[in-house]
Amino acid sequence: MGLKETNIDELPINQRVIDLLKGIGIVKLFPPQEMAFNTKLLQGENLVLAFPTSSGKTLVAEIAMLKAILEGRGKALYLVPLRALAHEKYADFKKYEKIGITVAVSVGDYDSSGTRLKEADIVIMTTEKADSIIRHNVDWLHKIGIVVADEIHLVNDSSRGPTLEMVIAKLERLLSGIQVLALSATISNADEIASWLDAKLVKSSWRPIPLTEGVFLDGEITFEDNTSRNIRMKRKEHIADIVCDILEEDGQVLVFVSSRRSTVSLSKRIASSVRPYLTPQDLDELHRVSKSLVSSATVPESTKTLSDVLRKGSAFHHAGLKNRERSIIESCFRNNTLKAIIATPTLAAGVNLPARRVVIRDYRRFERGRGSYPIPILEYKQMAGRAGRPAYDDYGEAILIARSELEREFLMENYVLSETEAITSKLASPKALRFHLLSTIAGGITRTREKIDNLIEGTFYSHQFEKWEIDHHITSVITFLEDGGLTKSDNGGTLVATPLGERTSRLYIDPYSAILLRNTLGKSEEITEIGLLHLICHTPDQPTSYIARSEFEDYEIMVADYLPDLSVPLPDSWEDPESYTNYLAELKTARLLQDWINEKSEREMTENYNVGMGDVHRYVRSAEWLLYSTSEICRVTAITKHIPLIHKLHSRIRHGVKEELLELVGLRGIGRVRARMLFNNGLHNLSDLYKADIQKIGRVPAIGTGIAMSIKKQLGFDVDESKAEITLENEPLLDESMQTLLEDFE
Ligand SMILES: Nc1ncnc2c1ncn2[C@@H]1O[C@H](COP(=O)(O)OP(=O)(O)OP(=O)(O)O)[C@@H](O)[C@H]1O
Ligand SMILES: [Mg+2]
Repeated sequence: MGLKETNIDELPINQRVIDLLKGIGIVKLFPPQEMAFNTKLLQGENLVLAFPTSSGKTLVAEIAMLKAILEGRGKALYLVPLRALAHEKYADFKKYEKIGITVAVSVGDYDSSGTRLKEADIVIMTTEKADSIIRHNVDWLHKIGIVVADEIHLVNDSSRGPTLEMVIAKLERLLSGIQVLALSATISNADEIASWLDAKLVKSSWRPIPLTEGVFLDGEITFEDNTSRNIRMKRKEHIADIVCDILEEDGQVLVFVSSRRSTVSLSKRIASSVRPYLTPQDLDELHRVSKSLVSSATVPESTKTLSDVLRKGSAFHHAGLKNRERSIIESCFRNNTLKAIIATPTLAAGVNLPARRVVIRDYRRFERGRGSYPIPILEYKQMAGRAGRPAYDDYGEAILIARSELEREFLMENYVLSETEAITSKLASPKALRFHLLSTIAGGITRTREKIDNLIEGTFYSHQFEKWEIDHHITSVITFLEDGGLTKSDNGGTLVATPLGERTSRLYIDPYSAILLRNTLGKSEEITEIGLLHLICHTPDQPTSYIARSEFEDYEIMVADYLPDLSVPLPDSWEDPESYTNYLAELKTARLLQDWINEKSEREMTENYNVGMGDVHRYVRSAEWLLYSTSEICRVTAITKHIPLIHKLHSRIRHGVKEELLELVGLRGIGRVRARMLFNNGLHNLSDLYKADIQKIGRVPAIGTGIAMSIKKQLGFDVDESKAEITLENEPLLDESMQTLLEDFE
């Protein structure tokens, strides 16, 4: 391979792979890809690719994975930071099933070890899921021959970075000879990543699609190459002018703002400006999907707003939306019926979307406890890099917004013309260390201090800092785990996990949570429903809702009312105002969970707590997991007195129902809404259903004959199976949009 453009044909890989790639239009390698293949990557060497956004890093990884698989070097593990990216890669890699390569994706449920994954050639996982798999020591772990770490620069991220570097360090210790391929943004210290991974570094600044970055001020965009473009300023909202300017040319736009609230307000403000750019077909299609979002009268206000703006060709996108809403928006944008998305930066990691222009409206971010600060250049470049993606456009533009000449210069200097900063390891945090060290002790990877030190040497941290800097943190974590009864050491210095430590590691919760739960439940004689929910919300593993100034007083009054039920002491509002505020937020979240199990509707919950339904689902899923964890902790520590309450609450949280419905929701196909319908129509339990005939059950609203037959079958009746199955499949009630409607049905 020389300097000429390499055809895909020339790669030393299986002809069927080549044919498949050519079939989807990948004929020539991009120059940085060629540089990657000029190394010993295909012979199994470790490699770090530091290429710009959209330069095709994934294809290099795909070919390296296929090579390893087809040569029998083992299966491939593809690590991603976010679920959305996992799903995108899964949809993309499925093309290889045509040549007999099996692909699986796994993102959720930390405690399951996933047998289907065992057979797959390529397994796509979030980093956290991979960490959990390692903790379970699944038998197929040793079959992994190559691991790809996508978006490796996220080792810089304080919440998820430590897990990423520990997963790689653990895999390298467990599987000698495993090949590591890391895909990185263009960061200034990519060489440090390479030295950490004992890998060759290939760096490039080439981009397949030209991306021009610039700053907008007073009707003019000035680009990095000193050219400029005037925008006709016709509207009150200048973002609308910037958006419409590119719609004139049939392009699409992605606007990044810093908060969820801004995504909503801005998309409302630009929607009517975007509408004239829709074709009659776009309008029809958008009308259809927006209608499906609001198929019931009781949907939350936020969903109605989404449906309204979507109909006009613009939409908002943030983590508070339901998964289904997010995927509808993404797919409408991909097929160009939706013209503009206003998003929070969660949409910036690695996704391929057809945005010719990306507008980064906010370069400042606000964080609780930190105030407002300018985002890192790396984050700006990731957002900018969503513009001009090869599959969709032949050029791209990224635009920052200035309000004054001074700000324009600042943005040009500090973002557009700046190199991304160096990244640093965040492993030295006590929370990250206790979480990961317990897991390696429990998994037998590090039974001695020496082994721990040896593992830490394999982390990015050790390649950046002196070992003594982390030594005392390690010592205090070991003491913390031992004092908390999660580990024990013998005289020879061997460290072992206690049954509680073992279970905690596999439950994938913070050791601190396990200690808190055991200590609190161990000493409480009695605990109430709200007391238990609040305790769960007090653990560092439970996400909690934000508490606004205006809500403060309400929750202060509520705390006073509930105090006798709460087993966690109330912090002093003067001495420790932060913990005090957190305590109120925990109570708010506990109340929200209580509403969920009292069958409140989506609308009531989102409106009373000022959260999105996506948030409610997140709180519920996490609480469900923590309640399960709590029951496991009680089981291994023989604190039996609270177990019945914990079990009951766990099932109620899982299904979102009052106790009286628990029997009914045990049936397949029966969720909180259908169960309530059956109950209110006199069918209170399995024995009532046993006695009732199919017609009677089928007449209950939201049930229908198909479900009625399925119920009878589950109760052991001899129903004409084929008929039941067919009816079930054709049953419109099983349609996802109807499902959502049902979830709202009161
Ligand atoms: N050689 C090629 N010829 C044509 N298209 C290609 C080629 N290589 C990659 N592509 C396409 O380029 C697009 C961008 O690729 P990819 O998602 O891998 O970028 P990336 O480098 O991972 O960017 P990011 O840093 O934003 O994640 C994809 O749509 C991919 O199919
Ligand atoms: Mg990528």
